[in-house]
Amino acid sequence: MPAERIDGVAIAAKVRAKVAQDAEALKAKGVTPGLTVVLVGDDPASAFYVGAKEKACKEAGMNGETIRLPASTPEAELLAVIDKLNADPAVHGILVQMPVPKHIDAQKVIRRIDPMKDVDGFHPVNAGKVLIGDADGFAPCTPAGVQVMLQEAGVETSGKEAVILGRSTIVGKPMAALLIQSGKGADCTVTICHSRTKNLAEHTRRADILIAAIGKPEMVTADMVKPGAVVIDVGINRVDDASQKRGYRIVGDVKFDEVAARASKITPVPGGVGPMTIAMLLANTVRAAQLSLA
Ligand code: GUN
Repeated sequence: MPAERIDGVAIAAKVRAKVAQDAEALKAKGVTPGLTVVLVGDDPASAFYVGAKEKACKEAGMNGETIRLPASTPEAELLAVIDKLNADPAVHGILVQMPVPKHIDAQKVIRRIDPMKDVDGFHPVNAGKVLIGDADGFAPCTPAGVQVMLQEAGVETSGKEAVILGRSTIVGKPMAALLIQSGKGADCTVTICHSRTKNLAEHTRRADILIAAIGKPEMVTADMVKPGAVVIDVGINRVDDASQKRGYRIVGDVKFDEVAARASKITPVPGGVGPMTIAMLLANTVRAAQLSLA
């Protein structure tokens, strides 16, 4: 039987509806949750994502502002903008769109953001909180979204073997931290695989839950997947395709059709993990606003 598709668009809509409700409740207390996105430079892909974030905020009844700075902005000037946002009580979440231009130290920028406003979950304080299971911490949006998807899809996680492909700071490592916690949507036995892992398929074939976040188009094939596994595809890759009007198509890290024939549940690309990322950003921002009242 082919795998059930986990519908990221529907689950993200549910998260966003709850965010809108929570925003409404905050507004009744005189607080409108606000996210400010800072975009340095004019990279078209970044500009697209930033626009989508601003629109999503407004749809959820929140304030969504974007500060657009030229690519030549000195690092000190960007840090001064962050200081101002840190001090502004109307701003609950701050996101500096990555990548920043090469002359700016991204780590310095991330560390300057008040951890209580770091709704990306990139600040070392939040990375640490996620690792120790401190509920006040902000988890990065993509792995947090994957965890919500697993729960919403009714996937039992307790005692399961979760294998994560990719050790990035934004996805792989925090994903592992979330899944090894004790409690709902976690309690997994976790393995992280990466570019130096030997006998990769031996690891992936043990997975009850396989999460691919390596950025390699269609790398995960059916022979790497245990029958009945739950497969989550975090990859968003462009591959040339002359048959498409735009000359490319978007694929995940998983060879969808053949893996779907073997898995019990699978996320598609597009329409899987992608929509969850913005939904979780909104959820983190509302929580930042709630915490600001606590
Ligand atoms: N660039 C691409 N994705 C992201 C993200 O989730 N957060 C930030 N800050 N920059 C990004």
